Amino acid sequence: MAAKIIDGKAVAAKVKEEVKAACTKLKEERGLIPKLVVIQVGDMGPSTIYVRNKKKACEQVGIESEIWHLPDTITQDELLDKIEKCNQDDSIHGVLVQLPLPAHLDETACTNAISPDKDVDGFHPVNVGRMLAGQETFIPCTPAGIMRLLDEYEVPLDGASCVVIGRSNIVGKPMAVQLLERNATVTVCHSHTRDLPSVTSQADILVSAVGKAHFVTPEFVKPGAVVIDVAMNRDENGKLCGDVEFEKVSEIASAITPVPGGVGPMTVAQLMSNCLLAARRSFQL
Ligand code: GUN
Repeated sequence: MAAKIIDGKAVAAKVKEEVKAACTKLKEERGLIPKLVVIQVGDMGPSTIYVRNKKKACEQVGIESEIWHLPDTITQDELLDKIEKCNQDDSIHGVLVQLPLPAHLDETACTNAISPDKDVDGFHPVNVGRMLAGQETFIPCTPAGIMRLLDEYEVPLDGASCVVIGRSNIVGKPMAVQLLERNATVTVCHSHTRDLPSVTSQADILVSAVGKAHFVTPEFVKPGAVVIDVAMNRDENGKLCGDVEFEKVSEIASAITPVPGGVGPMTVAQLMSNCLLAARRSFQL
């Protein structure tokens, strides 16, 4: 039987509608408009497309946004100065530095320079620590979006066997923590994992964040599993695709996210939700 397609575009639209309604209320009742600054340095990979999508989403929900597109000749100190400007400006509620940065810039130093109260990516170590401790904080947008998708489709998490392929700070690690928080049994796999398919094929929920087209073949997938594809790759014909061999895996999975139209739109929608949260918190709301 063919898998149910998990429609990230539709759920993202729903999340954005919720944020929009909340922003309207905030404006009417408090005269407050949330504001996000996105700092982009140079034109690394698909960053320009991602940043454009974030700006567009802000317009849709009623969040003010500024893109600070800086030249790739900028020095580390100059970039840290820009971040500090955002930290000091009370009219700015959320700040993010689009990653990756050019090689001469230190991503960790930039992430750490953003005020934890404005860290809508949830990458600052203070917020990572809060998340790990199960405290309220900014949850990184991609894992938060995946949790929302699983909830919208009523995928049972309590006691479920979950396998995450990838251990990045942006996706793999926070994904594992979020699933654990909901009482799943979580295994994190990576490039050193032995006999990967023997591990992944135990999963009720399989999350792949590898970044290689055709990586997840049917032998990786337990029949009836829910398959979440986080990647954005180009195949040999230049066509956008994820990690998962979609057609073949759809035949055995119970539900699956497409690429595009799965996790991607959820990441941006969740960012809007984090910006709203940052603005509310700045007014102790
Ligand atoms: N690059 C790829 N994904 C992300 C993200 O979620 N946030 C930032 N800042 N950069 C990214």
